[in-house]
Amino acid sequence: MWRSLLPLGYSRSSGGYRRFAWSKADLACRAWFTAQAADRGLTVRTDRNGNQWAWWGEQLPGKALAIGSHLDSVPDGGAFDGPLGVISSFAAVDVLREQGWAPARPIAIANFADEEGARFGVACAGSRLLTGQLDPERARALTDADGVRLGDAMEAAGHDPDALGPDDALLDRIGQYVELHIEQGRGLVELERAVGVATSIWPHGRWRFDFGGEANHAGTTRLEDRRDPMLSYAFTVLAARKKAAAHGALATFGRIHVEPNGTNAIPSKVSAWLDGRAPSEAALASLLAELEQAARERAERDGASLSVVNESLTPIVEFDHALRDRLAKTLEDAPVLPTGAGHDAGILAARIPTAMLFVRNPSGVSHSPAEQAELADCEVGVHALAAAVRELAGGGL
Ligand code: GLV
Ligand code: MN
Ligand code: MN
Repeated sequence: MWRSLLPLGYSRSSGGYRRFAWSKADLACRAWFTAQAADRGLTVRTDRNGNQWAWWGEQLPGKALAIGSHLDSVPDGGAFDGPLGVISSFAAVDVLREQGWAPARPIAIANFADEEGARFGVACAGSRLLTGQLDPERARALTDADGVRLGDAMEAAGHDPDALGPDDALLDRIGQYVELHIEQGRGLVELERAVGVATSIWPHGRWRFDFGGEANHAGTTRLEDRRDPMLSYAFTVLAARKKAAAHGALATFGRIHVEPNGTNAIPSKVSAWLDGRAPSEAALASLLAELEQAARERAERDGASLSVVNESLTPIVEFDHALRDRLAKTLEDAPVLPTGAGHDAGILAARIPTAMLFVRNPSGVSHSPAEQAELADCEVGVHALAAAVRELAGGGL
């Protein structure tokens, strides 16, 4: 499976992946998913929000056990964030079949659409739409850096954007969701374990800071005459770092858009996206309130304007305790650990019991080509997922 998936969306210049939602590379990944399912005789259905589901035993009684992850990536992402969960799901089906095992209730392997939000800005768009946590009208109107609307990108890919919206009928068919994922830190390295079970996801969100100023000549405009929004932005980046440290939180400006973006022109506008995460919702709210206040004061001093828009906000996720404990026990007392990364399992947790398995990442690096996993650990992950499926789908709910 890796051999056929790895070339898709690979960037030779960066050594990373560019699989943005509904792009050519993403469509190739979606076709790969369909082909893998077909090879195994699984029926693929695409839900109204573009999420793909490969069903094993769709007609069986009872609610389905869903497994899977996503295939899209951040800009120049690693090979494992998302794909490891999808590949491990197909591989777990193979292992179970080799063992002569068959499910007592339906199994569905999911490929969630647009998990990273790399192109249209909202992470986990597919699972948010499915669970009613993203307004379809807003989703359709989201635009990428070239001004292409999400609705149009979907339509060009053959998916009807008017169909977007909550899908209670589908959710009613799913009893639990278990997502296997590469760990995005070094928790398992320190514990010297190949696989762990997730406890919680930190609350996190994205905010767009628009600093407005006045474009002018870099060589002829006196410093005291400038209205330079880059100064306000630069101050805000440093303030974010300082305030994050004070709150035991994380704050990252990783994306910026400058107008007119000329070396010899004072910018007229700087748009910057803040990714904020904290151990509690209160800490995240305080961090944002303090940062906005500091940015506003600085913008005033620079003669710049500021508007701050929250583009997404995900509350703290405590994974289902009973499911977590059951999986940890099934996996020979696997360690349990929290994460700061967002996942579709975190979004679905609002509606159905969900759990996550993490596979050790020796570098701890993620959202970068340096992301790593050892083949032996991936195999332990597949067998852990297979054991989880056996445990959960062997009898009724
Ligand atoms: C998803 O990978 C995230 O940004 O946490
Ligand atoms: Mn990711
Ligand atoms: Mn992921």
